[in-house]
Amino acid sequence: MSTTTPSRAPAKLTVQAIRQRKGAAKLVALTAYDVMFARLADAAGVDIVLVGDSLGMMVQGHANTLPVTLEDVVYHTRAVARGVAHAHLVADMPFMSYQASLEDGIRAAGRLLQQGGAESVKIEGGAEVAELVHRLTTYGIPVMAHVGMTPQSVHQYGGFKVQGREEQSHKRILDGALAVVDAGAYAVVVESVPEALGQELTQRLHVPTIGIGAGANCDGQILVMHDVLGLDPHWKPRFARQYAALGQQAQAAFAAYADDVRHGRFPSNDETFK
Ligand code: KIV
Repeated sequence: MSTTTPSRAPAKLTVQAIRQRKGAAKLVALTAYDVMFARLADAAGVDIVLVGDSLGMMVQGHANTLPVTLEDVVYHTRAVARGVAHAHLVADMPFMSYQASLEDGIRAAGRLLQQGGAESVKIEGGAEVAELVHRLTTYGIPVMAHVGMTPQSVHQYGGFKVQGREEQSHKRILDGALAVVDAGAYAVVVESVPEALGQELTQRLHVPTIGIGAGANCDGQILVMHDVLGLDPHWKPRFARQYAALGQQAQAAFAAYADDVRHGRFPSNDETFK
């Protein structure tokens, strides 16, 4: 069997290429949950597309990510995979898909690659998931780690609060990140920590750090697509930047459509089959 890539296949960003970007060029990552937005992110040159369990909040309307199931992530990953030609595609391991046993975690990660079409999986946690990271990478499943404020522990934190301000939690996050990288993680998402900790992790880890609310010194940044697009006119996390106000635009478009229908202006002759 030939192992060469067909010449017309689009170049995919591999985990090896992502690792090589450390200290060389910043990584740009974005979440996506459907094919249309995945296509747009890919065409815009985003390096990494994550089907995050944030879909629970952005798509399903939950207050946190805990209700998201493995089926949900497989479903959305399958859709996103059809829109991503170049970016590396990561799927999130949702709450309770890996916490109860190594076997659960291995099967869940396998499904995200086999049925979802993901190229790697993201797992929240530090030292407690290091054994799982080791097993997955041994079986050929690349792992992006996720440390700092890990949203699946929202109830443990008492809310989505910045982590790593106190000495003990700073040490726990640092030790956890070192453990998962030692176990084979190819990159580490660092969420909602003080800038100094983001910088320390970036200096200490030999793989790229991808920050979200972790300051400017990380090797890359990730944001939730809905925040970048300003889809929610009433909410913007402090660490995010809105590059558009699509929420307002969408609402105005829906209102204009409703007005046209109600006043008989839609459909016109051009929009009607004769
Ligand atoms: O679920 C998600 O979207 C995430 C990113 C915000 C890192 O975990």
